[in-house]
Amino acid sequence: MLDSKVIRQLFPFLQESIDIKACCPNNNKRIVVDNTASTQLPLPLLHNVINSVFSYANIHRGEYSASLHTSYEFERAYNIAANLINARSWREIIFGRNTTEMINLVMRALQDDFRDGDNIVVTRLEHNSNYVPWYGLQQGLAKRQHPINIDIRVVNFERESAELDMKELESKVDDRTKMVAATGGSNFMGVRPDIKRIGEIAHESGYQQPGGEMGSFFLVDGAQLVPANPVDVQEIRCDFLAWSFHKMAIPLGVGGLFTKSEIIETLPPFLYGGDMIEEVAEGDVTFKERPWRYTAGTPNILGTIATGCGICFLVNLGLGNLFLEDKVAEEEKIELTGRKIETEILLNTPRGDFEIDYKVPEEYIKEWGQYLERHPEVESELKDRKMRLIKVREVVNTAMTNIKLHEEELTQRAIDGLSKIPNVSIYGPKDAKKRVGLVAFNIEGLEPDAVALKLDKYGVEVRSGTHCACLAHRHIGIEGSVRMSFYVYNTLEEVDEVVRAVSEVSKSAVKISMVSKPAQKASRSAKPLEVKA
Ligand SMILES: Cc1ncc(COP(=O)(O)O)c(C=O)c1O
Repeated sequence: MLDSKVIRQLFPFLQESIDIKACCPNNNKRIVVDNTASTQLPLPLLHNVINSVFSYANIHRGEYSASLHTSYEFERAYNIAANLINARSWREIIFGRNTTEMINLVMRALQDDFRDGDNIVVTRLEHNSNYVPWYGLQQGLAKRQHPINIDIRVVNFERESAELDMKELESKVDDRTKMVAATGGSNFMGVRPDIKRIGEIAHESGYQQPGGEMGSFFLVDGAQLVPANPVDVQEIRCDFLAWSFHKMAIPLGVGGLFTKSEIIETLPPFLYGGDMIEEVAEGDVTFKERPWRYTAGTPNILGTIATGCGICFLVNLGLGNLFLEDKVAEEEKIELTGRKIETEILLNTPRGDFEIDYKVPEEYIKEWGQYLERHPEVESELKDRKMRLIKVREVVNTAMTNIKLHEEELTQRAIDGLSKIPNVSIYGPKDAKKRVGLVAFNIEGLEPDAVALKLDKYGVEVRSGTHCACLAHRHIGIEGSVRMSFYVYNTLEEVDEVVRAVSEVSKSAVKISMVSKPAQKASRSAKPLEVKA
């Protein structure tokens, strides 16, 4: 037998409490400005994950309380996500790994619906994950025994302003356009295309879907939009919206997909297997209702639970309801805790046929009671479902607008600072109001990777390369760029530090390029320079 005494001490579910000590492996100060790729995890979510390890089990497969409780918390995340983006029903939400997988789900679900001669319209601003799946589909359909040839039409953007050519878009969308797929925010040029207008153009295309619906489907890549903007799928009138939670201070591994009820009803499953089935007999399988039809196998349970909590955390953060225990007086603590709980109740407002109640956590019951005594109107408002639906939109809009404004300020500071460095070129609009929270640039005479490496010496973490926006880099005529991108924890002081570091690095570029151009070229190459006698 194995030594169960030792082993059992190492599993939290067998303990009453655990004492975790964690510290940074290197004491380096990090300035994380690569948030477009992935953001960092806040402490409350870490606590949430740690608390889950005492009581979690697999979902939808056990009648014991750990499994039932885990299933509730897991399902709750779908409803909270529906409230975040104003989906009519929690059943319109599907979770997977990331934006890429979610777009692939849409592509796979629709693949058999394409007719010969159909087309897909995308933009040249797209991340590879909103171009390559459509390319893959095109290749696959053309290779079928009875080939289906579809066209992928790419809409240009203006090189300086990064504005999409809407005239070209209008001309490329026609009555053979099955799908228009566009980014809500470019992860390289930073620009935010007018997705509402793109949606209108898509819906007015005159295309007839096999199910009889008129108009092209409209998919929004929300990877750079949802984390820091108020997003309302009913207002955008999109059919699909894909995004990644790891870009919004939530653990890695969960992506969200909104699909309109009318469409999701008719889509076939993406992955087949356990948990997505109702009944299995040889030769006869029936599938569960949405969204479980799209959740084959054991999903990322803890990540999904943390996603629900993470959305609540972010909205509370945007509303200014979070506080440090030892920094506030008792009165203020009651007020802020009350608002935090009220926000969580609002974010748990049932969407569609969602049935799981929200229970105020035990540790907050006292403050919640005191808050309700002070604000008697809150209780009656929360009992009124209609009022809750209105109020949840208000809190989400306010919170996400505040996060957007925070990013806007940082972005403008970065643009203004970088613009003063003589040999730096910035890509995209110079007005942060037209952007998402990132700035891509190049230093003349230095490769992007070299810049990133040099900035790392200053503790500055940026991304270099094409950032998977290959089409846009080609269009601009460059092989790569350096990108800094912000999130809720970044400060103006950090931006100033990054700009100072870029300025220092840019001086070295001038020196190198003035001293010896060939040597500079050689230093970029992986191969050693051959010296001829
Ligand atoms: C606009 C955009 N779309 C899609 C993606 C892909 O996201 P993920 O890697 O989470 O699938 C990214 C990632 O940075 C992005 O910025």
